[in-house]
Amino acid sequence: MPLLKAEGLGKSYSAETKVLNDINFEVNSGEFLCIIGPSGAGKSTLLRCINRMVEISEGKVIFDDMDVGSVNKKELRKLRTNIGMIFQHYNLVPRVTVIENVLHGRFGYKSTLQGILGRFTEEEKERAFFLLEKLGIAEHAYKRCDQLSGGQQQRVGICRALIQEPKLILCDEPIASLDPNSSKIIMDYLKTISTELGITCLVNLHQVEVAKEYANRIIGLKQGEIVFDGSSKSLYEDQIKNIYGMEMRELITV
Ligand SMILES: Nc1ncnc2c1ncn2[C@@H]1O[C@H](COP(=O)(O)OP(=O)(O)O)[C@@H](O)[C@H]1O
Ligand SMILES: [Mg+2]
Repeated sequence: MPLLKAEGLGKSYSAETKVLNDINFEVNSGEFLCIIGPSGAGKSTLLRCINRMVEISEGKVIFDDMDVGSVNKKELRKLRTNIGMIFQHYNLVPRVTVIENVLHGRFGYKSTLQGILGRFTEEEKERAFFLLEKLGIAEHAYKRCDQLSGGQQQRVGICRALIQEPKLILCDEPIASLDPNSSKIIMDYLKTISTELGITCLVNLHQVEVAKEYANRIIGLKQGEIVFDGSSKSLYEDQIKNIYGMEMRELITV
């Protein structure tokens, strides 16, 4: 049984344009998969369909045996606790402390009131610290998030996703705002999460060379369609050229 399956998935934001068209793939538990493609190819939309941040227009997404498009509100909330999200701009609350931002990852398990009042158990707080230590930023726990560097903020984002205890983590361009050094740290952590904790990771990237270095499998999107799905080793220059319409060499220098 795959953890995630897309069957004839299609998405349109308006009647005129189809952003995703007949997307089919299966992802097994523990896979580390990168989705590559030029800007506008539909990478973000694809991730948003998986946790229904946008409504699915056609076909199906099956996650953890649930039909994402047809679950009710309550089931959707439960489903989303199993999916962590990591964003390009971290999506943290800037004026709030690092530890509180991590604890926000528990909101899905709480009533709205518990969430508003910031009622977290000792166990949750200990877990938050444990994760911050794992990611090497425990010393910053009581600083405001906006006092941290981009790379450190993304590590907070990873802690917030992990405290959810998700089965799947969706990362939308997690390193697009980071320098090469911080990018490597973040990608290494993401890879560790999948290999050591067995959490499935789907990572949207526009850097082909990073995808090739880290992913076991790569999906290439072009104008809303899958034009490549295979091992990173089997992604050759002619396919890259097809996906992006130019040479990889040129891409690296962009
Ligand atoms: N909320 C939206 N409303 C209308 N069009 C959108 C919306 N989000 C994305 N699009 C369009 O969908 C296409 C794919 O966008 P996106 O999924 O963001 O691609 P990528 O992440 O690969 O850059 C683009 O043409 C974009 O303009
Ligand atoms: Mg995007």
